[in-house]
Amino acid sequence: MRINPSILAADFVNMQSELGRIADADFAHVDVMDNHFVPNLTFGPQMVGRIQETSPVPLDVHLMISDPERWAPEYAELGAASVTFHIEAATEPVWLARRLREIGARAGVAVKPGTPIEPLFEILDEFDQVLIMTVEPGFGGQSFMPETMPKLAALAREVRRRGSAAWLQVDGGITESTIVQAAEAGADTFVAGSSVFGAEHPGLAIARLREAARAHAHTH
Ligand code: DX5
Ligand code: ZN
Repeated sequence: MRINPSILAADFVNMQSELGRIADADFAHVDVMDNHFVPNLTFGPQMVGRIQETSPVPLDVHLMISDPERWAPEYAELGAASVTFHIEAATEPVWLARRLREIGARAGVAVKPGTPIEPLFEILDEFDQVLIMTVEPGFGGQSFMPETMPKLAALAREVRRRGSAAWLQVDGGITESTIVQAAEAGADTFVAGSSVFGAEHPGLAIARLREAARAHAHTH
């Protein structure tokens, strides 16, 4: 059970100390937005490169950008542990996944709440992780959408059927209470922004999320 705090909820002008608050996390989740694929703008490769040099934990980069074929490899090259692009934005997803792996990153693919998962099944082996968005991408602090859980459960079944080692990630509105449904549906990697950075003691929030996920781990 992995907990990846999203630095979208961190104080951007105190990034170094904010990263220090999540030293107990598995990965730091970095939301890259281009004001095109989503109606919000965050940071690009230069800033993510410095975050990479500063972070006590490896980076899990989530690209909410158009034309990922053009931009994603750069994030792998700067040392991100995983680079996830959106299937809705990709024109050559298999080529891009292979490119990311070749550079040495885990290759990830993300789907928005309304995007069906079945078309991804035939290319599942190309990916190390799949991200099921549990809110519409673009902003932190939104409410978890339980209607995405059947899709996660279907993906978890397919991953087991194939004997795939892919991690199943959820992102958006994850709290100590919503994490239970996601864990039961088969997620093993949880992104949490406001519920970690908004806590007085992020280390404690991370431990409690991990414990709640473990207690409800999907077992079959
Ligand atoms: C949303 C981002 C999420 C976001 C999660 O577009 O992909 O990573 O930061 O934030 P919370 O946990 O506050 O919903
Ligand atoms: Zn994200």
